[in-house]
Amino acid sequence: MSKRILLIVGGGIAAYKSLDLVRRLRERGMSVRAVLTKAGAEFVTPLSLAGLTGQEVHQELFSLTAEARMGHIELSRDADLVVIAPATADLLAKAAQGHADDLASTLLLATDKRILAAPSMNLRMWLHPATQRNVATLRGDGMLFVGPGDGAMACGEFGPGRLSEPLEIVAAIEAALAGDTTIPLPGAQPGPLAGRRVIVTSGPTHEPIDPVRYIANRSSGKQGHAIAQAAAGAGAEVVLVSGPVTVPDPAGVRCVHVETARQMLEAVEAALPADIYVGAAAVADWRVGAAVVEKLKKGPSGPPTLGLVENPDILATVASHAKRPGLVVGFAAETEKVIDHAQAKLARKKCDLIVANDVSPATGVMGGDANTVHLVTGAGVETWPTLSKQDVAKRLVERLATLVKETGA
Ligand code: PMT
Repeated sequence: MSKRILLIVGGGIAAYKSLDLVRRLRERGMSVRAVLTKAGAEFVTPLSLAGLTGQEVHQELFSLTAEARMGHIELSRDADLVVIAPATADLLAKAAQGHADDLASTLLLATDKRILAAPSMNLRMWLHPATQRNVATLRGDGMLFVGPGDGAMACGEFGPGRLSEPLEIVAAIEAALAGDTTIPLPGAQPGPLAGRRVIVTSGPTHEPIDPVRYIANRSSGKQGHAIAQAAAGAGAEVVLVSGPVTVPDPAGVRCVHVETARQMLEAVEAALPADIYVGAAAVADWRVGAAVVEKLKKGPSGPPTLGLVENPDILATVASHAKRPGLVVGFAAETEKVIDHAQAKLARKKCDLIVANDVSPATGVMGGDANTVHLVTGAGVETWPTLSKQDVAKRLVERLATLVKETGA
């Protein structure tokens, strides 16, 4: 049966993207019923939404005609997922406080389904402690989040607050509909990492050689993204700092997209403090020292020499940081003497736990869907069977939840 989405369109300059979102969802065979807030109607018309959804658009809480056809309680429950896009600061504040003074807020309070919010607002509004408090409350209540993204905003500023792109929201919707049972339903018991803040790094870094070429590696981001997803499913507030990957942003996670190791370090430090840090990214150890502004050209003097300099070590920096998280977890990607090298990294980088994996080409770990990991701590080594990267992530997150509880980290 086709999945039914109840889409609440809030007011904001990015509301136009909700039209493309509807189109993308319908292309995937989903049915979309739209609710347009009063502010939303300032940016998109009910007619466009009705045309694209092929259904009546709901706007009023006290509409006799609409209520006669379908009561608002029924509207809130006759869906597989409720999506708010764009989710404005005001809508989030109302939902966090449990207001029910218009159709959208009433539906959010009355639903028994998962809610996925795609925030969009000015960066200062997003970063304001009031909004962050509301988001933390809503996450604790089981609301899922996609975005906001970072970038240039309509107001001329630059930073977090941009509505995620329609395809990113679609990916988050599909993940939520896939029914990850670790994502709590509204009103369910909080997960084992509820109230905790987790930073995860994922994917490769790209280190420019010139404006068109770069040094990279084969990391796909699958393992790191699965860890971020599992931590969010366990109730944590998650910041995922990702290098360039093609896997979609996980649902319910704030994603910061970076390219280089130095940008990754900056984003990680900006996301501190946190309770747990998991460094799953394959960070390039070296970058080209001299910045080359123009494309390198072939010439009579032969191939250029790339003078490499060392990148900052993000894991070691976090482990020795004034705002050190209680639990600092690194990975070790090795092709020989896996355990020996991992133990050396544990000591050298001063972290609490190293997840070691063999990335020799024959294992297919980099870019693949499965992983065989060894948990290396000062107390010893524990080897897990080969598991899907999602299962490695879930087991790892369960272990981290136990460790933070035991150690009071
Ligand atoms: O992305 P996938 O295709 O799913 O593959 C997953 C993976 C193999 C990339 C992942 O499981 C993994 O092993 N990640 C760590 C890769 C790596 O860079 O390992 P390393 O042994 O070179 O580094 C050790 C640790 O130091 C890592 O936690 C790394 O994030 C960190 N590091 C390394 C260099 C650097 N400059 N800064 C760092 O923080």
